[in-house]
Amino acid sequence: VVVPLILAGGQGTRLWPMSRAARPKQFLPLMGPTSLFQRTLERVNNRRYAPAVVITNSEYRFLVGEQAAELGIALTSVLLEPVARNTAVAIAASAAHIAARFGADALLHVLPSDHEVDADEGYWVAVDEAIRAAANGDLVTFGIKPGHAETGFGYIKSDAKVGGEAKKVERFVEKPDSARAAQMLDEGGYFWNSGMFMLGAGTFLSEAERLAPETHQAAQASVRSAREDLDFVRLDEAAFAAAPNISVDYAIFEKTDRASVVAVEFPWSDLGSWDAVWKSGNGDEAGNVVQGAVTLSDVSSSLVISDHAHIAVHGLDDVAVIATNDAIFVGRLSQAQKVGEMVKRLRADK
Ligand code: GDD
Ligand code: MG
Repeated sequence: VVVPLILAGGQGTRLWPMSRAARPKQFLPLMGPTSLFQRTLERVNNRRYAPAVVITNSEYRFLVGEQAAELGIALTSVLLEPVARNTAVAIAASAAHIAARFGADALLHVLPSDHEVDADEGYWVAVDEAIRAAANGDLVTFGIKPGHAETGFGYIKSDAKVGGEAKKVERFVEKPDSARAAQMLDEGGYFWNSGMFMLGAGTFLSEAERLAPETHQAAQASVRSAREDLDFVRLDEAAFAAAPNISVDYAIFEKTDRASVVAVEFPWSDLGSWDAVWKSGNGDEAGNVVQGAVTLSDVSSSLVISDHAHIAVHGLDDVAVIATNDAIFVGRLSQAQKVGEMVKRLRADK
């Protein structure tokens, strides 16, 4: 059995102030009538899969419930995290939960809830190949041909071919600095990690036990002492909070030698930060992407979005100005990855 595991607990902080703690980007109808989370649910609502497991922060439980109900899509369960500890423990706890429900041989198709994905025929060929390799004991990643020296992604070295078999991951480098990213692009033979994985529950748990024992311990204990509450599974707070705050990319994929990659080529974007939104937009001849009431003079390579007030910008290059009705962000567009850190400070200050 293949169980979709939808990761829906991220705070989307790098898209502040559009994405807010109370309603992060995966739950916003960003580019269409439904949210990215709902579009992810629809993508796995087919005969390949058991009903999905969703793991999210307990703050978002009603958003998950309402948005699934709106589509009439049933879920296996919704796991609730008492605190945010990033994706390593979220996936490990989900694997423990799924192994208990469906057996250790169950496969997890791990899916971010905040990606724009166009699941064409090639996508499903890759998914079926990933299922085959994961059933064989691989921890499977999905690799995308890199377009530029992006620093917000993981990089996978492998000689996999689009449409071909899963191949061994020779090296996995999470979020390199820009010099390293440029060097890997030059060297060739690298893919971007799409953030989707196909994992055997038992295989993943034993790799986690070996490579990230504290994460594994916290995951197991939080599931063992979980409380079922309506359709929700509340992970034990003390046990879960003891987990290190680390992503699965650093905790497992940079270290394991059991990873393989299926190369894919389908329309995909992680609209994770303002520079990604700028790149995916239709720029004018000066490279400006604007939305809402905006007037520019002598401005280039900039992103200016307003959902309310009229914004006028003069004499600047490489800036992001994002205005919502109660908060405004102004910063250097090429350093948009830093917005996440700034929002953490902003929360501490208030
Ligand atoms: N349940 C839960 N709990 N979900 C979480 C948590 C958490 O604490 N933190 C993040 N998520 C969810 C996010 O909502 C998103 O759907 C997914 O997990 C990935 O988290 P991001 O924070 O968006 O990761 P990233 O974009 O910086 O990096 C990952 O994705 C890139 C591709 O988009 C990595 O896997 C990179 O290697 C990869 O290139
Ligand atoms: Mg992301």
